[in-house]
Amino acid sequence: MRQVSDNLKREAARMALSQVEPGMRLGLGTGSTAWHFVDLLGEKVAQGFECICVPTSERTAEQARGLGIPLSDLDQLDYLDITVDGADEIDPRLNLIKGAGGALLREKIVAAASNKMIVIADVSKVVEQLGRFPLPVEVNEFGFGATMRALKGVLLAHSAEGEATLRHAADGQPYRTDGGHLIVDACFGRISTPEALSRDLLDIPGVVQHGLFLNMCKTAYVATPDGVRTMQRGD
Ligand code: A5P
Repeated sequence: MRQVSDNLKREAARMALSQVEPGMRLGLGTGSTAWHFVDLLGEKVAQGFECICVPTSERTAEQARGLGIPLSDLDQLDYLDITVDGADEIDPRLNLIKGAGGALLREKIVAAASNKMIVIADVSKVVEQLGRFPLPVEVNEFGFGATMRALKGVLLAHSAEGEATLRHAADGQPYRTDGGHLIVDACFGRISTPEALSRDLLDIPGVVQHGLFLNMCKTAYVATPDGVRTMQRGD
C-alpha cells in the first residue's frame, strides 16, 4: 500500500518537473512528496541541468546538497519562478492545509516569494472542505500559556470539533521547527471560513504563522491510480 502511494507521489513530482525550465529559480518543498521532486531534480542536475533553488527546511537542504543541487536563499534571490511542495489537504479552490512536517513557516515564505506555487500530492489529499486534518499553528515559546488560551478561544469561535494540542517529537520533547518555535495542532473538523480563521489566528501575538495556504497555489498535480490529474485555480 505504501509502495503504491509512493509511486503516485513520484508521478505527481514528475509532472511538476516537466514545468521546470533551464535557469529557473525554484523553491523546494518539504515532506515525502516534495522529496521525490528534489530527487528527480537531482537526477536532472547530475545530467547538467542548470537551476538555483531555495529549500524550505534543513531536511530538504540536506537532501538537495547531497544531490549536488545548487542552493541559495531569499536574501540573494529577490523572487523565485516556481515553488513545488506537498500538502496535507487540498480543497476545490486549491486552498491548502500544510505543516504536518513542521516546515510551514519557511514553506509559506518561499511560496509567497514565488511567481507560481505548484502542489504535488496523491489523491488522498483532496477534500471537499479543509479541516479534517489538524491545522498546524507555529507559535513562539514565550507566553505559551497565553497563546494556548487565545488559540482555544479561536477554536471555540470557529466551532471546532476537537482540541488544540502541543506537538511532540519522537523523543517525547516538544517538537521544534527549524526556526526554534513550537507547533500546536488544532483539530477543527471542518473549516467553513478559512479567510476569517486565518485572520483570527494571526491576530494572536504569539502565533508566528499557521498552515492555511489561501490563494497561493495555482496548480496541483494529483496522482491517482488512473494517472495524474491537474487541478487549476481560476483567477
Ligand atoms: C511540511 O511541513 C508539510 O507542509 C508537507 O508539505 C505536507 O505535510 C505534505 O507532506 P507529505 O508529502 O509527506 O504528505
